[in-house]
Amino acid sequence: MASRLSPFLLRSAARAIPRVARPQARAFSLTACRPSDTLSVHRNTPDNNPDIPFKFSEQNEKVIAEILKRYPPQYKKAAVMPLLDLGQRQHGFTSISVMNEVARRLEMPPMRVYEVASFYTMYNRTPVGKFFVQACTTTPCQLGGCGSDVIVKAIKEHLGIKQGETTADGLFTFIEVECLGACVNAPMIQINDDYYEDLTPETVVELLTALKASAGATGASAPKVPAPGPLSGRQTCENSAGLTNLTEEPWGVEKTRSDL
Ligand code: FES
Repeated sequence: MASRLSPFLLRSAARAIPRVARPQARAFSLTACRPSDTLSVHRNTPDNNPDIPFKFSEQNEKVIAEILKRYPPQYKKAAVMPLLDLGQRQHGFTSISVMNEVARRLEMPPMRVYEVASFYTMYNRTPVGKFFVQACTTTPCQLGGCGSDVIVKAIKEHLGIKQGETTADGLFTFIEVECLGACVNAPMIQINDDYYEDLTPETVVELLTALKASAGATGASAPKVPAPGPLSGRQTCENSAGLTNLTEEPWGVEKTRSDL
């Protein structure tokens, strides 16, 4: 009998022992704040509210007519992305008025347009500077050349702003972004529609200085801004140490062996 009761007694005794409170500590980590978090909601501001009228320009109306021809009339909402892009280029950023006008033109619920504009990071839903500087900080750019860390540092120090900020003169907005697809020319940045590649801290500062000097300058007095592409002297992504193959005339169909 005693042996049959033993398990029961042991379990009861164990339950009766007061539980010792274990420390409830939970590890947490801090990551850099993501400015895009602030873009997931819209708050009316003096320069971005639905009362600010927006209409596409006459020139852009022609582009829209051309874009809409690509889609069957019942699927014209498929043109939401190119129309948002046009609106952003015309207005400077994708304001709530731009989104509402796109929704009206494509006869779709405004919420559907907001969803697209807030999902894709290329739509700037707050104003940005004349030069929108996006530095790639993904692994290949972190490791390639001098590395994106020093490029980001040089940009921040030269412009005197942090990620997500715009300079006081409204010329430059700076953000860090993920891979822009030019890893072979790392480290690189995108400024507006142009890629500048094979960067060093010196070349990136020279580039920003030239862009600043070019703002507002016209004609012969306008300073020369480096052409987009590699700033290292490379044409594209060829081996900077010279060709290692295709160094001689390719064989024709009549030649199949080097010893013949
Ligand atoms: S990692 Fe920078 S362009 Fe791909």
